[in-house]
Amino acid sequence: MSRSAILKSSLAKKYWMSATGLFLCVFLLGHLAGNLQLFMEGAAGEYQFNQYAKFMTTNPAVKLLSYLTYASILFHAIDGLLLTIQNKKARPVNYAVFKASANSTWASRNMGVLGTVLLAFIVTHMTNFWAVMHWGEMPMQTVDPEGKLLEEPLKNLHMVVMNFFNPAENSLALLATVLYVLSMVAIGFHLSHGFHSAFQSLGLRTGKYGKLIMVAGKVFAIVVPALFAIIPLYLYFIQA
Ligand code: HEM
Repeated sequence: MSRSAILKSSLAKKYWMSATGLFLCVFLLGHLAGNLQLFMEGAAGEYQFNQYAKFMTTNPAVKLLSYLTYASILFHAIDGLLLTIQNKKARPVNYAVFKASANSTWASRNMGVLGTVLLAFIVTHMTNFWAVMHWGEMPMQTVDPEGKLLEEPLKNLHMVVMNFFNPAENSLALLATVLYVLSMVAIGFHLSHGFHSAFQSLGLRTGKYGKLIMVAGKVFAIVVPALFAIIPLYLYFIQA
């Protein structure tokens, strides 16, 4: 393969990485908004979360977005792996004497490792909840918050999530909480480079918007993972 073809294909990979990465950032915002409902207490909170979960798994437009999300995760992961291998092969031999830390951040040099940790998290996480919701044996909510019998019982995803982080129900609840929080730290580092880098690769980090994108990237990389991390901590400690 000619040098320019390799360059082109690595450029194409970067474009796809950026497009799927930014789409996954939008997914994260939506998923966070849905999960924040777990802070609502009592029967009303349980009912609202279960209705929301039903909508998210049955609405055709949301289903389409879900398929796009799964495809983006797969594409992003495979492209990321290929790009990491390609970059390693293209690295000059005398790279070791080059002081990398002076020219780049720790996160930017470890995007492959961070991405692998995140993929492991996503697979485990989807096994914990998503697979149970779609194909597992679910507890059912049969009455509304006023105690009225529901015409159609709801899958009680709220109970599944609560029990998962409850030490009285799950002997691994503490370990799960710690691993969830650590995974959110990995997401934070991944986003601290990935967010602005995606705009850069798409040619959008230019002019007066350049600084704004850098700042937005830093805020996104701290606030979104922090809010995600508070959820398992909160669910664990209110039930411990
Ligand atoms: C830490 C707090 C989090 C909690 C409590 C949580 C909870 C859940 C629950 C209950 C589901 C099942 C929803 C359903 O099947 O309807 C789900 C699905 C999912 N979660 Fe999370 N989640 C968290 C963080 C994350 C993060 C940080 C990511 C991504 C890195 C993520 C990726 C996913 C994906 C891809 C799905 C499948 C979504 C779909 O089918 O459209 N989650 N999550």
